[in-house]
Amino acid sequence: MTTIHVGNSSPPPSSPGPGLIPHACSASPDLFLKIFPIDFFFLLLFLVCHRVNKQTMNATTAILRRNALRTLRTSSAPLSRFQPISIRNYSASTNYEYILVSEPRPGVGQITLNRPKALNALCTPLITELNSALRDFQTSSTISAILLTGSERAFAAGADIKEMAPLTFSEAYQNSFIESWSDLTTQLKKPLIAAVSGHALGGGCELALMADILYCTATANFGQPEIKLGTIPGAGGSQRLTRAVGKAKAMELILTGKSFSGEEAEKWGVAARVFKSHEELIEGALKTAETIAGYSKVAVQAAKEVVNKSQDLGLRDGVEYERRVFHALFGSQDQKIGMKAFAEKKKADWSHS
Ligand code: CAA
Repeated sequence: MTTIHVGNSSPPPSSPGPGLIPHACSASPDLFLKIFPIDFFFLLLFLVCHRVNKQTMNATTAILRRNALRTLRTSSAPLSRFQPISIRNYSASTNYEYILVSEPRPGVGQITLNRPKALNALCTPLITELNSALRDFQTSSTISAILLTGSERAFAAGADIKEMAPLTFSEAYQNSFIESWSDLTTQLKKPLIAAVSGHALGGGCELALMADILYCTATANFGQPEIKLGTIPGAGGSQRLTRAVGKAKAMELILTGKSFSGEEAEKWGVAARVFKSHEELIEGALKTAETIAGYSKVAVQAAKEVVNKSQDLGLRDGVEYERRVFHALFGSQDQKIGMKAFAEKKKADWSHS
């Protein structure tokens, strides 16, 4: 089913402080409490909050309904009103405005950022579409690994500067601007390979750094140039780049806004592999995705989970965590299938359970 992602709704309204009560009512506090017991006040407050929440939910439902209608209207394939939009026929790919979605190899889903006029600048609707496509791949029973790429000229030239320019602090803060970018790291359990060619700047670099495996061309142009715009990385760049290249290099890159090449990215451990051309990059990334898709989904998910834990835990806790997950896999069928196949010199026929 196609998931329509809607950003975080506004937080519930805060309750008025006790200081507001005398202002709301001109009677003295004692008299007020006698006439208006405190329990009754909280009941009233609850009802007001409930009503506001209901209105927020109605607004959310309206947005969902409008998006769903738009999805159905713009679909090139005639869809029955009751037919689910399934990932198998990729009906979604024809509906998206800023991304292309395909299944180029068995078990491999591909998302191509497709906003060429703005060098794939990551505006909010693009991120919403990306999250929607990733959710579809996450829930798909046929997709085991995902490739995220852009064009030969640009993976992504950053967050959309024109969208950000007029934002105020309170808008950014209260609407949790950029938080939905993290869906990629919090919701996606299947491996994601980023194939980077051309510009991967600011948010583009950060998006690539969120992937599980990063491949790039030798001439790819990475960087965190936010300092030149009077701001700082906002989608994890100061954290992930620092973990990847170390504090000294990250500090230099972020404070100067200088770019670094794909070749350097590979040398410094940001990229796992570097390729001579865009074609070789895509072919190499697809081959890796296909290899991963050929393994047990249970084991692949567990492997991704434990490697990611290494970024959050200390060594001792991390090793302990790994051992627990390793023990848990003795409860999977695929551990039995894999080890039996090895002993019998056969190819494992995974059950993915
Ligand atoms: N946001 C919005 N539009 C962008 C963009 C961005 N990040 N990057 C490029 N574009 C647009 C340009 O405005 C231009 O549009 P118009 O034709 O309508 O003017 C179009 O893409 C092509 O760009 P250029 O003409 O500039 O192409 P170029 O080849 O001369 O230069 C470039 C390419 C070096 C990538 C240059 O476009 C550039 O410096 N872009 C901005 C890079 C940047 O600063 N990124 C960080 C953004 S902030 C951020 O990402 C914050 C965060 O942490 C989340």
